[in-house]
Amino acid sequence: MTVIGKPIARVDGRLKVTGAAKYAAEFNQSQMAYAYPVRSTIARGTITGIDHSAASSSPGVIAVLSHLNAPRLKAVNPQELGRAGGRLAENLVALQDNKVHYFGQFVACVVAETYEQARAAAALLKIAYAAEKPALDLASELPKGIKPEKTVLAEEAQVNVGKAAPLLAAAPFKVERTYTTSMENHHPMEPHGCVAVWEAADKLTLYDATQGVMVDRATTAYLFGLKPENVRVLSPFLGGGFGCKGLPWTYMPLAVMTAQTIKRPVKLVITRQMMQTNVGRRTATVQKVALGASRDGKLAVIRHHSDSYNNLTQFFEPSGLATEVLYNAPVREITYKVAKLNVGAPTYMRAPGEASGTFALESAMDEMAYEMKIDPIEFRILNHTAVDPLTKHPFSSEYLRECYRTGADKFGWGQRKMQPRQARDGRHLIGYGMATATYPGYRSSATARIQIMINGDVRVMSATQDIGTGTYTILAQTAADALGISVERITAQIAASILPPAPFAAGSMTVASVNPAVLAAGEMLRADLMKLAVADAKSKLNGRRAEEIGFADAKFFVKSDTSISDSYADIMRRNSKVMMEACATTMPASGPGFGAPGAPCVTAPAASEENSDAKKYSFHSFGAQFAEVWVDEDLGTIRVKRFTSVQDVGRIMNEKTARSQIIGGVIFGLGQALMEETIYDRRWANPVTRTLGDYHVPANLDVPPVDVYFIGKPDPHISPIGARGVGEIGITGVAAAIANAVFNATGKRLRDLPLTPDKLI
Ligand code: MOS
Repeated sequence: MTVIGKPIARVDGRLKVTGAAKYAAEFNQSQMAYAYPVRSTIARGTITGIDHSAASSSPGVIAVLSHLNAPRLKAVNPQELGRAGGRLAENLVALQDNKVHYFGQFVACVVAETYEQARAAAALLKIAYAAEKPALDLASELPKGIKPEKTVLAEEAQVNVGKAAPLLAAAPFKVERTYTTSMENHHPMEPHGCVAVWEAADKLTLYDATQGVMVDRATTAYLFGLKPENVRVLSPFLGGGFGCKGLPWTYMPLAVMTAQTIKRPVKLVITRQMMQTNVGRRTATVQKVALGASRDGKLAVIRHHSDSYNNLTQFFEPSGLATEVLYNAPVREITYKVAKLNVGAPTYMRAPGEASGTFALESAMDEMAYEMKIDPIEFRILNHTAVDPLTKHPFSSEYLRECYRTGADKFGWGQRKMQPRQARDGRHLIGYGMATATYPGYRSSATARIQIMINGDVRVMSATQDIGTGTYTILAQTAADALGISVERITAQIAASILPPAPFAAGSMTVASVNPAVLAAGEMLRADLMKLAVADAKSKLNGRRAEEIGFADAKFFVKSDTSISDSYADIMRRNSKVMMEACATTMPASGPGFGAPGAPCVTAPAASEENSDAKKYSFHSFGAQFAEVWVDEDLGTIRVKRFTSVQDVGRIMNEKTARSQIIGGVIFGLGQALMEETIYDRRWANPVTRTLGDYHVPANLDVPPVDVYFIGKPDPHISPIGARGVGEIGITGVAAAIANAVFNATGKRLRDLPLTPDKLI
C-alpha cells in the first residue's frame, strides 16, 4: 500500500471551493414548489383545531397540509421497518394525528411558489391546542422513566448492577463525584433539506441531506408503499452531519407527501431554529462516578451511573461506553436511568456516549490521581488494561501507553506541577491537563464495484457517503493501490442508492467497512485481468505464474525482469473489452456496527472475508488529549492556548484528511467544554437558544493550534487494510483534559459543562 496513507488533497476539494459541488437542496427542478413546515407552540397535548383559510388564500400558496388533510402513510412497525433496512430517527411521522410530543414538532406544512410566500403564509395558520403540562424536570421524571434496553449502540447497557458498593466501602482511597453535561445541538453548516421529485405515481427521486442513502431509501419505500428500487436517493455532498443526519427525520417524508399531494417537485429546507427542535440533540446527563483504589494506586472498582432522557425513541446518551473499556479494575458497574421528557428525540452526536462519558470518567481519574499524589499519566498507565475488561478479549491492536508517552513528550508534560496555581503569566493562571480518548472500532458489511475502462479510467462504486470526512479521496486511494493505477485516473461514485449497498456513514465505520470491499473488488478485477494475460499467447506474460507477476502503472510485469510487461489497456484491447468490472461484498470482522442496515451483496461474485476474528478480539481505538489553558481569574474566562492529540486508530488512510478529522473533533470538544448549551424555557419547554447568535460554537479565535500525532500501526484483525475509523474519537476526552487543566491552573474543580465564567468566579 503506497497510495493509501499519503496526505493527498481531497479529490473533491476544487468542486467544493468553487461552489460546483451540489448539495441536496441545490438540485432545483422545473415547476418546483417550496414547502415550509409549521411548528407546534406547545410541548405536550393535542391539536383541537386548525384554521387553514387565511394561509390558503395567501399569495402563491398551492396547498396547506395538516393532519386534517395530509396523506395517510403506512403506520410504522419498527421491527418490520428495520428488517427492510429502514429506520426513523424518532418514532413519529408528521401530520398523521393530532398529538404533540414536544415544542416545535411539525404540525402543518405550507407549500407555495416561493420560499418567502410559504413562510409568510405559515405565519397565518391558526392552530388551537389543548395543552398539557410538559415533562421537563429530569429529577422528578426519572422515577417514572423507561427501563433501558439491554444494549445501547450494540454494547451492554446495564453492567454488574449493585456490585460496586461493597468494594467502594472497603477501598482505602475513593472519589465519588457527580458530573453534569449540557444539552447540545449539532449545527452543521448545512441545514437538513431535501428536494422530492415524483417521476411517476410509483417512482420517486429524492435529493436528501443524509448520512445514509440506503436507510433513506428503505424508510421512504416503507412509508409510501413503494418498491425500494423505485426510490432513488442521492446525497452527493453533505455540509456536515455529525450524527444528526444519520437517520431520517420528519421533514423528509413531509416533503415527499407534499410533493405527492401537489404533483410537483418540492424543496423543503429547515431553518436554523428548526435545527434546535426537529433533528436531534445530545441530551444533558447527570453522571455519578465512583472510583475506589488500593494504597498502591491500583483501581479496585469503577462505578458509573448516568441519568438522561429521551422521547419517541429507544436511544439515549450512553455515557458509560468508554467506562466499559478503559482501565483495569476487578469490578465495574455501569447503569443508566432514562426519563421521558417533552423535548425532541435524542440522537447520535459525534461520539454519542463517549463524548459525555469521558468528561465524567476522565475528570474522576484526575481527581483520584491528585488525591493519591500520583501523576495523572502514571496513574493511567498503572491501571492500563490490554484486554477488554467486560469480554476479556484482547484488543485487536492497542497502543494507548504509546499515546500517553508520545503526547507527554510532544506537549511538554514534564513542565507541569502537580500542585495547582504554580504557573502564572500576568493575571492569567496557567494549567496543564490531560485525558484518555477512546471510541469503538465498528465495522459493517459493505459492497463495492470497480470498473476499468479501456482508456485507463477507473470507477469505484458504493452507496456510501462523504459527509465531509474525505471518503471520495480515500476510496480512490484504495482502488489505486488495489489496481496499481494512479489516483488521478480514479473516480469514486458514491452517495446514490442505486449503487452497491453500504452502511450509513456513522459510528466512524465507513473506512473500516467500505475500503476493504473496494480493496477486495480491486484485487478480483486485477486477478481477472491477469488471467486474461497469462492465457493469451500474444501476451509477454503468457504462461507465467501469478507469484512471478507484479503490477504498477496500469500494467503487469515480471518481478525479476520488469521489461517483460503487459499493460491493462493492451490486455483489454486484445480481448475486445471496453470495460471490465468486479464486485465484492465484505463481511464484518467486528460484528455489526451500530444501527447499520443489513447490506447484502446484490451482485456476484462475493468475496467474503474470514470473520472469526470478530469473536476473538475487541475492536477499539485509543488516544491521549493534552490541553494548556489560561484562566483569567478576575473575569472567569478560560482560553485553551494549545492542544495536543495523539491517536491510535490503526492504519492512517490519508494523513491530511485524518488530521482534519481529529482537529474537527477537538474543536467540537472545545465547544462542549466551554460554550455549547441548549437552554430551555421551563415554562413552555421551548429552546431559548435559537440561533448561532446565542447557541455558541467555537469561532476561529477560540481555537488554538491543535497538534495531531498518529501511532499509525495497522490493526491486523479488523481488515486487510488495518484502518479503524477516525471521525469521532477526536472529541472524546477533550472536555476532561480542559477541565483538568483548569483545576491545575486554579485549584478549582469544575464538574458541570460548559465551563462558563459564572462557574469559575
Ligand atoms: Mo456519528 S455521531 O455516528 O454520525
